[in-house]
Amino acid sequence: MQTVHTVAELRTALTTARNAGKSVGLVPTMGFLHEGHASLIAQAVADNDVVVVSVFVNPTQFGPNEDLASYPRDPERDTELCRRLGADLVFMPAPAEMYRDPKAFVDIAGLSDGLCGRSRPTHFRGVCTVVTKLFQLAQPTRAYFGEKDAQQLAIIRKLVADLFIPVEIVGCPIVREADGLAKSSRNSYLNPAERNAAPVLSHALRAAREILRPGLATSVVRENIAAVLAAEPLARTDYIEIVQADTLEPLERCEGKMLVAIAVYIGTTRLIDNFTAEVSR
Ligand code: PAF
Repeated sequence: MQTVHTVAELRTALTTARNAGKSVGLVPTMGFLHEGHASLIAQAVADNDVVVVSVFVNPTQFGPNEDLASYPRDPERDTELCRRLGADLVFMPAPAEMYRDPKAFVDIAGLSDGLCGRSRPTHFRGVCTVVTKLFQLAQPTRAYFGEKDAQQLAIIRKLVADLFIPVEIVGCPIVREADGLAKSSRNSYLNPAERNAAPVLSHALRAAREILRPGLATSVVRENIAAVLAAEPLARTDYIEIVQADTLEPLERCEGKMLVAIAVYIGTTRLIDNFTAEVSR
């Protein structure tokens, strides 16, 4: 396995592979890899001849008061995990390598406004910009994203469709701790009491999943989730949203392919979780 830091090195390494007719799998990450990322890398290794993992804490997707400076980093451990999982290439660029006096940004209307976009108004512009750059550089056959970031996944699917980017987007299931907490690099911010409280997100979603039925008002589902979250003193709800899974349009009633997504502060750490369900009469 090779670790490269520059755009030129990445291009050289992948041109050889592509000229030899090999399929390329790209796993974009911000590092501090956990088992959720490991499942994406393992899937990419299973599906492709050559696998590139990018490890880049992307500054443009953090708001001014967010955790860019404190975001957890461990490049040595990340490199070792990628090697163990069978990746071929790790791309670890410096911010100046990815953003040289940038003037071009990629934005996506509508889908970025609700859910996480409401409290993080510039987040998806940063995600779309860096993901487009990575697609341009790696020109992957397939790219892998976790379903935990359901809004991000829906946005990236729309991005590649609208911009005719020839890559297959593969969504991979949420990986959870034994008590239901979705794996996230940000779980490392939780103190022991907060860590005990954090599974309330998955408990609230599980309760919601049990009451879904065609035609039920989504306000009832939202109230059900809110009641479970309210019982946990360390939890403060950011949003509870029930939307059409592809367009992210709000739903009044349970029907079709639904995304039920929540964001909750546990102490000062903002966690997200979700599930999708197909509800038909
Ligand atoms: O999901 C993430 O970790 C990031 O948003 C991504 C897709 C790597 C872009 O920086």
